[in-house]
Formats: sequence, C-alpha cells, structure tokens
Amino acid sequence: MKALLISRDTQLYAEISSQGAARVPPLNVATTRDSLRDALDRPLADSPGMVIVDISDADTADGDLLERLTRHYASAHFMLLTDNHHPDILIRAMRVGVREVLQLPLVHRALHEAIDRIAASAGVASVHDGKVLAFIACKGGSGATFISTNFGYALATLADKKVLLIDLHRQFGDATLYVSDQKPAMTLSDVCQQIARIDGPFLESCLVHVAPGFGVLAAADDPSQSVETKPEHIDIILRVARQHYDYILLDVGRQIDAVSLRALDTTDAIYPVLQLALPDIRDARRLLDIFRSLGYLTDHIRLIVNRYEKGGKLRLQDLHAALGAEVLHTIPNDYIAVTDSVNQGIPVLQLARGSPAARSLADLVEIVTARRIIETKSGLFDRLFGRSEVDY
Ligand SMILES: Nc1ncnc2c1ncn2[C@@H]1O[C@H](COP(=O)(O)OP(=O)(O)O)[C@@H](O)[C@H]1O
Ligand SMILES: [Mg+2]
Repeated sequence: MKALLISRDTQLYAEISSQGAARVPPLNVATTRDSLRDALDRPLADSPGMVIVDISDADTADGDLLERLTRHYASAHFMLLTDNHHPDILIRAMRVGVREVLQLPLVHRALHEAIDRIAASAGVASVHDGKVLAFIACKGGSGATFISTNFGYALATLADKKVLLIDLHRQFGDATLYVSDQKPAMTLSDVCQQIARIDGPFLESCLVHVAPGFGVLAAADDPSQSVETKPEHIDIILRVARQHYDYILLDVGRQIDAVSLRALDTTDAIYPVLQLALPDIRDARRLLDIFRSLGYLTDHIRLIVNRYEKGGKLRLQDLHAALGAEVLHTIPNDYIAVTDSVNQGIPVLQLARGSPAARSLADLVEIVTARRIIETKSGLFDRLFGRSEVDY
C-alpha cells in the first residue's frame, strides 16, 4: 500500500518509512508534504491508500484543511499522529470519519496495529500471522534449550509447520548445537547489522536449516565482536518472521533485559521451563512476579515441567498452587535418549523416536497446535490429568 505522510519531522518520516518497509506486504511512504496546506496545494495524481497526518504543529485553520483533504482523498484511510495539543482538530477529524489516532512519540507496536486494521479493512491481507512462543529457563539447566529446539523439530516434522527458532542468548547461545552439526554462517547479530535488508528470503538465508520446515537463527558467538541487538531490531525481525513462519520459537534463556522483554511483549505465549525442585520453583516465582509486575496476562503464561518423575515429593498441584500458573505439559526425565541427542546434536525425535522424551514432545505438538489448552481455562488440568482423583 502507498502512503502519503504530512509532517515536517524528517526523523518521523525515517521512522515510519523503515517500519513500513519491514511489513509484508510493505507500506510504502511514497510521498511527503510539509503541511496540510502543502498537501492541498500539491495534490497527488493517484490517491494514496493511506494518509498519515502529523498534527503536532497544526494551527486552528488546519481543522478545515484536514476536512478538505479527507474529501479530496475520499478513498484513502487517514491516520492522525498527535502530541495531544490539538483536541479541536481531533474532534473535527472524528466527525469526518478518521478512525486511527496515534500518540507521539510513536509507539511502533501501536503503529503496526493501526496499519493492520487499515490493511484489513482495505482488503490488503497479510500473508500470514505466525505465533510467537517463548521458552524461558527458570534456572540454568532447566531444559529450555533442549525443549525449544526439539519441539521446533517436532512441530515441523510431525505437524508440517514452518518453524523458526531464534536463539536470543546474548552470550553462550547454543541452540543450534542441540539439533545440528552445521556451523551458523549468519547469526542474530548479522541480521541486526543488516536490518534494513530484512525480508522473508533474507531471514531464511540466515538460518541453520535443521529440517525442511525448521531453521534456527543462531545467537552471536562472540558478543564483543557483534553488533548489539536492540529492542527495535527484535520488533522488526518478529514482524517479518510472523509473516513467513507458522511458529516462531524463542529460546530466551534466563536473561531479562530490554531485548528479551521486547520479545516477550509481543509473544502469544510464554512457557517458563522448570524442574520440580524448590530452587526452580523459587526462581519461577520470581520470574512470574516480574511478568505480573509488567502486566503480562497470566493467561499467556503456561509452565512446562521438565524431567518430571511421577511420585516425587512435590506434586504438580503444589506447583500450581505455589505459582498461580497452569502447567501446559510435563516432559519426562529421559536421561539416555536426551543425553545421546544433545551430545550428537541430533533431534531426539530423529534419534530415538519411541523414547519417552520424543513421545512427550509429540504430545506437546498436539497440545500447542490444537490450542485447546491455551484457550480454555479449566481445560488444562482436565486434559492432562483426566479426573481429579488421579494420583500424581
Ligand atoms: N527431559 C530430560 N531428561 C533428561 N535430561 C534432560 C532433559 N531435558 C534436559 N536434559 C539435560 O539437561 C541439560 C540442560 O538442558 P538445557 O536445555 O541446556 O537447559 P537450559 O537451556 O534451560 O539451560 C541438557 O544437556 C540435557 O542433557
Ligand atoms: Mg539454554
């Protein structure tokens, strides 16, 4: 879609055009005008699909000019950007049917959501809307990397999904090693360095390909040499990734910082991975407290209990009571199959298909793709444990 931007702010232009270019299909900010007056004096031959008007330095006459412009480009969708100083123009805008008003400074997520709404009503359907699932280790060694990488492989091979795993570790990222013996040619840091080039084929070319539908974007191996990943990079990468993959899995590790938080802000589900031991539970509690303080919906957070053994002193229902989050799935302790898989860098499903760990990952594929558990509040316990009297 083509957009006309009306603003004197060159920085705002750069921001909107780079955000627009990263979309699939792209929003092309083809022309700019300094002011509403300028836009009326020099109308475009072809009406743009979208007109974005920055009214932060508007004056009282601009209400009339805006009304004229909406008549001139009657088929275009209008979006106003405001710093809240011109309520009179906003009221005029509402009267002439402008539905999208965004606050300045621009919040990229809000911008994209508004463009999404406009694109949807204009019939410019996006190609895809992949789901982002974040795996976060409550403690080092909980199994987040093993589970996210092997789950990615299982999703691609068993459910025929197109899956991307992004290793978000800033140091010592090791996700590719769990499922591949290839050395990554490109890493997350390289993608950030060339962020202006990003599109689906470029992203795909940066991956370690593990199986036909499954690629891993490796973490930078030497953080001191690498370009710093910024939260804005993550926004752009995830936006492009959603358009090209069915599932985007994030191996977040334990690092909570600006980059991982930005990623978590936009995830569809967060899966803290923990083992049924008090230190894990303590750390899980801290993590969940952070998420709650950030206002994340607890409905999006589901625990994965790894190395689970029935009959232990701590029970799953204790975990639920202690953490106030539901358990999505348990993965059994399967020392031989998992150690062999991790040591050889071959997905457990490929190496030992009948092993308890592989079977459990296959169950997780079913759970996640069916989405029943995420969407029904009581569904999880009912489904995992059947009747309430089951002894676990
Ligand atoms: N279900 C399991 N059964 C047996 N061993 C496991 C299981 N899950 C993980 N492990 C072992 O635990 C180790 C740590 O797992 P990893 O995924 O690296 O943890 P994290 O990424 O959370 O730090 C792995 O090397 C693996 O051998
Ligand atoms: Mg790890």
